[in-house]
Amino acid sequence: MKVLVTGASGFLGRAAVHALAAAGHDVVGLVRAREKAALVEAAGGKAVVGDVLDLTSLGRAIHGAGAAIHLASGATAKESVAVRVGGCRNLLTAAKAENVRRIVVGSGYWVHGHRESTITEFTPFARGVPTWYNGQAERIALDAHRAGQIGALVVRPGMVYGPGSWFAAMVRGLQDGTWRYVGNGANHWSPVHWADAGEAFRVVLELGEPGGAYLVCDDRPVPVRTFASFVAERIEAPPPKGVPRFWAALTQGPALARARGANQAASNARLKALGWSPRFPDYRQGVPDMLRAMGVLR
Ligand SMILES: NC(=O)c1ccc[n+]([C@@H]2O[C@H](COP(=O)([O-])OP(=O)(O)OC[C@H]3O[C@@H](n4cnc5c(N)ncnc54)[C@H](OP(=O)(O)O)[C@@H]3O)[C@@H](O)[C@H]2O)c1
Repeated sequence: MKVLVTGASGFLGRAAVHALAAAGHDVVGLVRAREKAALVEAAGGKAVVGDVLDLTSLGRAIHGAGAAIHLASGATAKESVAVRVGGCRNLLTAAKAENVRRIVVGSGYWVHGHRESTITEFTPFARGVPTWYNGQAERIALDAHRAGQIGALVVRPGMVYGPGSWFAAMVRGLQDGTWRYVGNGANHWSPVHWADAGEAFRVVLELGEPGGAYLVCDDRPVPVRTFASFVAERIEAPPPKGVPRFWAALTQGPALARARGANQAASNARLKALGWSPRFPDYRQGVPDMLRAMGVLR
């Protein structure tokens, strides 16, 4: 099936393109600039130049597709609102015009905020999270689904460790001693290997129940401090240190500091019930694999 992926040159977009192409789909990745085409091609897709904020280019890109995945995201919060929310609306309009049957909206488990108990797909959204626009994009797509316009599904990854994004920043920050956890670092994160996250997009696209959301994380939620200490040991960096919550809020902004200091142990039961089976169910195997792939572990 032809599948259009927006944000295909991005961190999660490349993982999704790779998984879909490896499974035999005809993957078209939207890029804003021709120079980004090589990233999509390296993942096994074909690149097409366009912009989710430009309906004409989106219409051309989606022509003939059976499904689309929305992973385009901005570099700043303001840009992300336009790209995640406005881009999702445009993608739905283009999909409807081209009779595309399925859309998968990438989101993230930060929408659930700090939780003492295990997060499931049915845990309510929290207020004031930095990536609130992901929740907004979800709602728009699911509303279109309820209106009978398209089969919409949502994928909510946890902390995806891979060659970029927060994990590459963590590795660099541990190497130069600047990375900090928030508070005492006892709060849990739910990690998932980048390739397993990409595969989750494929499984949800092919087998997910329209109207449904799926969390993506491995089997082992872990306290942030334990996770970061594990990475530091592997790369022979000094053990990580923490910063008081008030200082994190001052330096990173209150919403981001709250998100990084939130307790988020999530369940992958719903995704596993679809047949998703992570190659790395435990970060203790997945992180060394990723560090080797990134060339920071011999
Ligand atoms: N990173 C994580 O661990 C993680 C975890 C959970 C959820 N998420 C969510 O997943 C989504 C994607 O995150 P990411 O980390 O993959 O982001 P990313 O690496 O910054 O990639 C964003 C992509 O969107 C493209 N883009 C930006 N504006 C566009 C536009 N107007 N039209 C078309 N493409 C555009 C970018 O292209 P250019 O290269 O041209 O800028 C880039 O390819 C976000 O909603 C994020 O909150 C991420």
